[in-house]
Amino acid sequence: MRRAKIAVVGATGMVGRAFLRVLEEYGMQQYSYTLFASAKSAGEKLRFLGRDFEVRELREDSFSEGFDIALFSAGASVSERFAPIAAGSGAVVIDNSSRWRMDPEVPLVVPEVNPGDIELSRGIIANPNCSTIQAVVALAPLQREYGIERIVYTTFQAVSGAGRGGWEDLEAGVRDHLSGGHTPPKKFSQGIFGNCIPQIDLFQPDGYTKEEHKLMDETRKILHAPDMAITATAVRVPVFNSHSEAINVELKKDFSLEDIRRLLAESPGIELLDQPENGVYPLAREATGQDLVLVGRLRRDPSRENSLDMWVCADNIRKGAAANAVQIAEIILKNLREAGRA
Ligand SMILES: NC(=O)c1ccc[n+]([C@@H]2O[C@H](COP(=O)([O-])OP(=O)(O)OC[C@H]3O[C@@H](n4cnc5c(N)ncnc54)[C@H](OP(=O)(O)O)[C@@H]3O)[C@@H](O)[C@H]2O)c1
Repeated sequence: MRRAKIAVVGATGMVGRAFLRVLEEYGMQQYSYTLFASAKSAGEKLRFLGRDFEVRELREDSFSEGFDIALFSAGASVSERFAPIAAGSGAVVIDNSSRWRMDPEVPLVVPEVNPGDIELSRGIIANPNCSTIQAVVALAPLQREYGIERIVYTTFQAVSGAGRGGWEDLEAGVRDHLSGGHTPPKKFSQGIFGNCIPQIDLFQPDGYTKEEHKLMDETRKILHAPDMAITATAVRVPVFNSHSEAINVELKKDFSLEDIRRLLAESPGIELLDQPENGVYPLAREATGQDLVLVGRLRRDPSRENSLDMWVCADNIRKGAAANAVQIAEIILKNLREAGRA
């Protein structure tokens, strides 16, 4: 049997390194791997599967040796240029950037929610935005059982969501706070230490940011609900890792909280942590390092019919990026095996 070949593009980045950790943890050592990054990192060694892998510069001919899967996490411009080349050479691209997510030809997939959409791929599959992934894992069971009328998102997003630069800005802020320094922010528009910044990505003419549009548009695409009413406020907070979200959701039918708790607890990819009287609710630090979406603080919204509030945390680098993509890859590899192609 031929060994499937996997390319990891952007292997030296925050998400790329998480890809390597998740691939190891998921026991995917039977495949053959090649790691790519920019020219700057060419020749660098990354420890993976117990040995040192040399990072290669990504070039137009990088995919000519033939890969089955290419995991991309090197930003939208790299995906724009290289994903079609990789797909054209026969690889299935699983892309973490925003470049292809809203392309009608490209499925946008969360395995717990719409795994069937993988079949529609013509070579590129998009991994949703981190804040969208954890939200739809929690919302999909409600959509299936009750139907969703409207969603109000407020997100509290960790600095790791902005890559290495975001992490370094918070570290510099902590150091400055202790030493009296004044390091100018590199990644964010304002100092992130001691601030909650109500801006993630650029403002659009309608007053929303791009991140807020991603949340709204991607939720509609993944849930196959093009007209769903959604609004969002996305906030960057001084937390190193894992996003938290307050989600208010209006359902199409009445519900009992007990039924909703049971439904969420039984749904794939979710851990229900909902005993506030004992101090049990989802927390970013608890979410970090694992792939479950933590859901809690469930309560009925008395201001609106058939509505409830919940608090949702997940590791944005793992389930919000690398783990979701690797879970998609697992499904594709299983399909290849069943077709006798790997
Ligand atoms: N962080 C998150 O929570 C998150 C979640 C979901 C999706 N994403 C998406 O994942 C992508 C990567 O994010 P990140 O947080 O990992 O960023 P990052 O830490 O800044 O890493 C960027 C990676 O891209 C590589 N790269 C840059 N330019 C390249 C080029 N011209 N050719 C080849 N490789 C190049 C870098 O290689 P060098 O080291 O050589 O520069 C590095 O490996 C982005 O599209 C981001 O939107 C991030």
